[in-house]
Amino acid sequence: MSEEPETLPELNKNPRHIAIIMDGNGRWAQQRHMPRAMGHQAGVKAVRSIVEYCAEANIEVLSLFAFSSENWRRPESEVSMLMNLFLSTLQSEVNKLHRNNIRLKFIGERKDFSEKLQAKITEGEIQTRDNSGLTLVIAANYGGRWDMSEAFKKIAAKIQSGEINEQEVDEALIGQHLSTADLPEPDLFIRTGGEQRVSNFLLWQLAYTELYFTPTLWPDFNRQSLEEAIGSFRTRQRRFGHTGEQILTKAVTL
Ligand code: IPE
Ligand code: IPE
Ligand code: MG
Repeated sequence: MSEEPETLPELNKNPRHIAIIMDGNGRWAQQRHMPRAMGHQAGVKAVRSIVEYCAEANIEVLSLFAFSSENWRRPESEVSMLMNLFLSTLQSEVNKLHRNNIRLKFIGERKDFSEKLQAKITEGEIQTRDNSGLTLVIAANYGGRWDMSEAFKKIAAKIQSGEINEQEVDEALIGQHLSTADLPEPDLFIRTGGEQRVSNFLLWQLAYTELYFTPTLWPDFNRQSLEEAIGSFRTRQRRFGHTGEQILTKAVTL
């Protein structure tokens, strides 16, 4: 019997695209007998350090789930607190992101936001659009099902106008009509806060993403936590339907 190696072999390079459900802000605050708002504020600090880490580590894309299309169901006071935090964070951070060569991109239904917030979102995207470093995707009022319905609507309109015919509808074409059309698919999905569900995040795009769940609450998620997640990713064998042997003998190129 051979002994188990102490460390697992590394099978993957760093992920190109990391997608994170930042969960657990409320519980972090409750554990400290503080209002939930304090948890969200602490969550912004965690965002800052994770964005810095990804920019330094040459990760191509970091997608963060900031507000889901279902989060409107929260008490009005929490929703408006989150909207204010969203606006003030944009006001204070966009210049810094720009100085760090980060491209900012928002996905989600922005029409439901205040005019002021919508203007800031557009301004941030325009200011940073030519940056060549990390692409930071903020999913705000985003839902995976929303993303797909929007894509189907656009495709239906093109069929109706004769621009394409229905035989041309395939997986690639659907992907090209999603809000993430210009991005590689996520390699690594992380959810903090202990729940093991996808909560309507990037449904289509997660088809072959490696999933990583941690009980760490989002405000406590730091550079070391991310390194652990990436470390786990690097030891996984991605097969995309092939056999393990095909991958090991490099009989296929992925
Ligand atoms: C995630 O933290 C942040 C948002 C959904 C905006 P939560 O607010 O969901 O924190 P918990 O799950 O209640 O602890
Ligand atoms: C998912 O977290 C959405 C975001 C992190 C923005 P939730 O806390 O809203 O998810 P559920 O409701 O527990 O599934
Ligand atoms: Mg939650």
